[in-house]
Amino acid sequence: MNKAVTDIRPVIKLGKPVYELSNVSKYYGDGGVVALEGVNLSLTKGAFHSVIGSSGCGKSTLLKIMAGLTPPSKGRVVLSGKPVRGPRADIGMMFQQATLFPWRTTVQNILLPVELREGKKAAEAAKPRALALLDLVGLKGFSEAYPSQLSGGMAQRAAICRMLVSEPDVLLLDEPFSALDEITRDFMNMELQRIVLEREASAFLVTHSISEAVILSDIVHVMSARPGRVIRSIKIDLPRPRTLEMAIMPEFGRYVSEIRDLLDKGAFL
Ligand SMILES: Nc1ncnc2c1ncn2[C@@H]1O[C@H](COP(=O)(O)OP(=O)(O)OP(=O)(O)O)[C@@H](O)[C@H]1O
Ligand SMILES: [Mg+2]
Repeated sequence: MNKAVTDIRPVIKLGKPVYELSNVSKYYGDGGVVALEGVNLSLTKGAFHSVIGSSGCGKSTLLKIMAGLTPPSKGRVVLSGKPVRGPRADIGMMFQQATLFPWRTTVQNILLPVELREGKKAAEAAKPRALALLDLVGLKGFSEAYPSQLSGGMAQRAAICRMLVSEPDVLLLDEPFSALDEITRDFMNMELQRIVLEREASAFLVTHSISEAVILSDIVHVMSARPGRVIRSIKIDLPRPRTLEMAIMPEFGRYVSEIRDLLDKGAFL
């Protein structure tokens, strides 16, 4: 192993399953479009999972089903022992775009989920937590700024705070940083890792980027082209915390080519 990474914490032990998907299928338009077919997935507590697959293979559909935003046509989704039947406070979701409301300040945007779920008083009470989160993501002093006064990366960081304000155990992320430039994206990925480790949350990330999946994940799930199925789950045995420099490790390169091979050939089986 690379000398520089010998004294850091080994890969976290993969714990108990927190999310269990069994035989999940999704059909759109009277069954004309088969978006997902028989997906089985088990996500372990406190681990970072990601899913990778070609465009249109059903990744966003899978995430929406997991978040309780749309029901599966068949199959079962269970989180922490309870079936997912709608949005829940223990699930945090982040979309590709930051989707902040332009007429609300940063802190008001962050508190919106609390306000919608529990009312204005609860949102006011949660303000110190929102400010602490802004601090955590390096946005101290921007709580009263409006989205138009934030850069793209800052808006995404505010969206991370909004996802975290309800203190969810599970974070579902649909290509959250794909609209950002590469340097900001690398930085945000490392921030994401730090937040997930600090909070001992379980994360599930949808991505198109093989290197992003490898650098962040404990397990990468590779999906076939539509109808999407999970064709292989690959354990990434790199130490934590991950650093961007790990991309030059031979192990890193081996994981990337293994996943690329699967996407090139297997994913179209
Ligand atoms: N609400 C919907 N109604 C009808 N068809 C849909 C709907 N949402 C998704 N689909 C179809 O389901 C399939 C999977 O879409 P989905 O958005 O899950 O793919 P994806 O893997 O997230 O793609 P991308 O990587 O491009 O974001 C596509 O063929 C899409 O056209
Ligand atoms: Mg998508």
